[in-house]
Amino acid sequence: MKILLFGRNGQVGWELQRALAPLGELHALGSDAVDFAEPESLAASVRAFGPDVVVNAAAHTAVDRAEAEPERALRINAEAPAVLAREAAAAGAWLVHYSTDYVFDGSGDAPRGEDAPTGPLNVYGRTKLEGERAIQASGVRHLVLRTSWVYGTRGGNFARTMLRLAQERDRLAVIDDQIGAPTGAELIADVTAHAIRAAVAGGAPSGIYHLTAGGQTSWHGYACRVIEAARSKGLPVKVAREAIAAVPSSEFPTPAARPQNSRLDTAKLRRTFGLALPPWQDGVDRLLAEILG
Ligand SMILES: NC(=O)c1ccc[n+]([C@@H]2O[C@H](COP(=O)([O-])OP(=O)(O)OC[C@H]3O[C@@H](n4cnc5c(N)ncnc54)[C@H](OP(=O)(O)O)[C@@H]3O)[C@@H](O)[C@H]2O)c1
Repeated sequence: MKILLFGRNGQVGWELQRALAPLGELHALGSDAVDFAEPESLAASVRAFGPDVVVNAAAHTAVDRAEAEPERALRINAEAPAVLAREAAAAGAWLVHYSTDYVFDGSGDAPRGEDAPTGPLNVYGRTKLEGERAIQASGVRHLVLRTSWVYGTRGGNFARTMLRLAQERDRLAVIDDQIGAPTGAELIADVTAHAIRAAVAGGAPSGIYHLTAGGQTSWHGYACRVIEAARSKGLPVKVAREAIAAVPSSEFPTPAARPQNSRLDTAKLRRTFGLALPPWQDGVDRLLAEILG
């Protein structure tokens, strides 16, 4: 199987390089080789490699910055995936692409299924939704995997920020009215590999699938898990447990509005691919074991 991966240096792309390697011949490209802000330039890369599967982990993920540069976000999140879809369809290849809970408006408190009405609150969500629609309209065989609250071992992430703040400050305030599932890039990559094998073997229909870790929490719950784990491992944590305040989103105004309900119903993915999605705490504990040693 020939797999062409875009976005190899992102959180998910980095883990995909590991998880997809055993499936066949993997060709992984980063932003040094291709520019998603020039969508038509991507066609040549697909034609030159002649893949069986195109995997797109590149995206404009700077949610607040996207408010100030909506045209660039649209090119990267919608027009570039549209070109990949067209070229993958012409090559008879599958397209695997990632999307987000931010395509929804975040109302209510029930987990949303794949067919729930969309209603993005910000530019990032709107451009990601446009990307999904372009892929669906192209006729390419596709797996669009919507995920949420992604963290990886590389680069900055929420857990690292909380670990730093917990050692610097004796009081913290963390949002508790946004609910979702922190999901590790490792899990996303491993599930992607399983899903590709099943899809290429004819065992899974083209479509959108929700892919997150199991369970749910708030950013406050996530922060408490991280900080208490650090304390139990002997890190010099300054903030007391009762000094981690739970506050509403309105205490931290941002250029882009965020959905309050980021819960995604993953039943379709688990049923279709025969997979289990471990509780979010498992992946976060593993991340902490790596960070804290
Ligand atoms: N992060 C989240 O919390 C989250 C939540 C839900 C869904 N998702 C979705 O999951 C997928 C993977 O996200 P991630 O967290 O792995 O993102 P990430 O770490 O921000 O990585 C994004 C990748 O896209 C590349 N990229 C950005 N602009 C580019 C351009 N103009 N040309 C070529 N490459 C470009 C970046 O390259 P450089 O590193 O070289 O800049 C980076 O490798 C995305 O589709 C995202 O929308 C993410």
